[in-house]
Amino acid sequence: MTLSTETSTSVDLVPIGQTPALGVVPEKMHAFVIRPERFGPPTKSMQPEQMPVWDIGPDEVLVWVMAAGVNYNAIWAGLGEPVNILKSHGLPFHIAGSDASGVVWKVGSNVRNWKVGDEVVIHCNHLVEPGTSDLQTIWGYETPDGSFAQLTRVQSQQLLPKPKHLTWEEAASYGLVYFTAHRMLIDRAEIQPGEDVLVWGAGGGLGVFALQLCKAAGCRAIAVVSSADKAQLALDLGAHGVIDRNEFSDLQFRPPESEEQAQTRLKTTKAFGKRIWELLGEKKSVEVVFEHVGQRTFPASVWLAAKHGRIVICGATTGYDLTFDVRHLWMSQKRIIGSHFADADSSRRANKLVEQGLVKPVMTECFEWTELQNAHQRMFENKLHGTVSILVGAPRRGLKNLDETRAALAG
Ligand SMILES: NC(=O)c1ccc[n+]([C@@H]2O[C@H](COP(=O)([O-])OP(=O)(O)OC[C@H]3O[C@@H](n4cnc5c(N)ncnc54)[C@H](OP(=O)(O)O)[C@@H]3O)[C@@H](O)[C@H]2O)c1
Repeated sequence: MTLSTETSTSVDLVPIGQTPALGVVPEKMHAFVIRPERFGPPTKSMQPEQMPVWDIGPDEVLVWVMAAGVNYNAIWAGLGEPVNILKSHGLPFHIAGSDASGVVWKVGSNVRNWKVGDEVVIHCNHLVEPGTSDLQTIWGYETPDGSFAQLTRVQSQQLLPKPKHLTWEEAASYGLVYFTAHRMLIDRAEIQPGEDVLVWGAGGGLGVFALQLCKAAGCRAIAVVSSADKAQLALDLGAHGVIDRNEFSDLQFRPPESEEQAQTRLKTTKAFGKRIWELLGEKKSVEVVFEHVGQRTFPASVWLAAKHGRIVICGATTGYDLTFDVRHLWMSQKRIIGSHFADADSSRRANKLVEQGLVKPVMTECFEWTELQNAHQRMFENKLHGTVSILVGAPRRGLKNLDETRAALAG
């Protein structure tokens, strides 16, 4: 690897893994690009191309991407399902990627709080009309300028300080899922010390952060997982107890269901509730259920929440049509709370906890740039867990800042 020392602004294209002089913006950049004519699985939909570098507006910033995080939304964008997301921004191509760490490379004329050279992570809440409305889109999903490129274009309000103790790849791994989990539990469900929380998918992207947040907030988390390695991960992250959902597979709602199947499901849900009592050491229901699984688990979530309990939900991996016995909701005065990503303020508060070391990234794998399609294909085939990153500008793993990166490039 070599370090470009060019000071001219006329650099055409920089190889992946190299970095030009601070603030020098090449004409073109390497990117993985989705186009409608190749919609399909990730190995087909995302192809390497050389693209023109974005122009920026007065409130925008160009960031030199050192590492990018992998999220399922890039897979949806590449499939063209459930919506053709290119229609939301109107361009004939799409650069996905809603998580990144990197260096501020160019700032718009109105940007005051950030300067070229600042090391940052990016939250993906992109405002449609900054200053006049809080209507949001997701950067790198509903916008075309995501992090699977050497340079990404973001609004300056999306920037957060990169936690100094993390490597580029660790810093790129957590934003979307962690800020979502933080918003769900802290801002929406407002968990309180002494409360108990049931966390579905506790070994997944959202779940690994839900567990850490519960612990930091003084709550006991009951983690639900489906394998021994995820059970161990959950305990390592501070879960009070773990349930393997394979032992309670009849709890899952699989429509259409006969009266007999419905009875079995209720019986299994009650047995699951008893397991929670055993783990808590008292006959007590959880005050909060952390939901994102959707159709399969939602009826149980409503049943399992305590009187006056809250079910907070941000997604529905197993289906959006939710069926449940509403009597349990009204008679016990429970609340269902919707939550969607986070805003700049809650992302900033959440990121502070990472800067302070109170919440840790759970990066299970880091891929090379050339493995970007493969990383997404593995996520598509449900072969990944935790969160994973991809090296973009960083020449190797383990580097934490621009000085170390330059030293690695020079060496
Ligand atoms: N609205 C937002 O802003 C937002 C943000 C982020 C994510 N999301 C959504 O939230 C969902 C989860 O995201 P993620 O990143 O955590 O995904 P993930 O890493 O794939 O984890 C999902 C977990 O769900 C569990 N699961 C899957 N099928 C299940 C079933 N039938 N019953 C019980 N558990 C099941 C799995 O855990 P086990 O197999 O170990 O039980 C899996 O680890 C996705 O639908 C995503 O689109 C929404």
